[in-house]
Amino acid sequence: MADPTYGARHIAIIMDGNGRWAKRKHLPRALGHKKGVEAVRNIVRTAGRMGIEAMTLYAFSSENWNRPEDEISDLMGLLRQYIQSDIEEFVENGVRLKVIGNYKALDTDIVEMIDEAIEKTAGNTKMTLAVALNYGAQDELLRATHYIAAATQSGEIELDKLSIEHISNALDTADMPPLDLLIRTSGELRLSNFLLWQAAYAELYFTDTLWPDFDQGELEKALKSFGSRERRFGGR
Ligand code: FPP
Repeated sequence: MADPTYGARHIAIIMDGNGRWAKRKHLPRALGHKKGVEAVRNIVRTAGRMGIEAMTLYAFSSENWNRPEDEISDLMGLLRQYIQSDIEEFVENGVRLKVIGNYKALDTDIVEMIDEAIEKTAGNTKMTLAVALNYGAQDELLRATHYIAAATQSGEIELDKLSIEHISNALDTADMPPLDLLIRTSGELRLSNFLLWQAAYAELYFTDTLWPDFDQGELEKALKSFGSRERRFGGR
């Protein structure tokens, strides 16, 4: 059987369009997000079955704090529920949970829940699921810069030996495979401060499909498109 991943090891998704999905159906926004979590669950299972090694999902950006308070609280509630209800499945299916972004700034109970889930799944090797929470790529690069500046000051890194690897290794995604495919749903054509460094050689895939409607067939379409691209990594 042909490889359903077309060789993609790491996929990232900007899950956009929950609000528009709800609006089109004359439903409250909160239901759009709820349906969005169902799509997350389905895509994580599908990616695991396909043999994708790593998946990074943009769940809450550092800019999302500008949303109305009740919407933020809905999203946090859904996050709590998702971790609680799916953690056992992660354990059974060999999924290692990881969080990228400054998640320690979230409510204490969520931070504790996340840390517990990370610990519980730390030994799993089938797939890494990285959830981006309070994540912004510029903030990630700033934190990495602080780390590197301190390491050069202490002599741990020699300034004239500073390399691309040092920077990659100081990012939240340090222990993940290189990003192969970055998907954004719902027709918007921008990266919105997501994985800016990691996207250097990633293939980009944009679809008009709204996130709650993004299913196995949609993922297969994105991977097929990925498989048809000629990746040259700057060569020719
Ligand atoms: C975009 O829809 C979606 C988000 C704000 C982030 C995605 C969040 C989820 C899928 C739910 C929580 C995730 C987990 C992992 C539990 P939007 O509101 O921007 O849609 P719109 O642009 O149509 O208004």
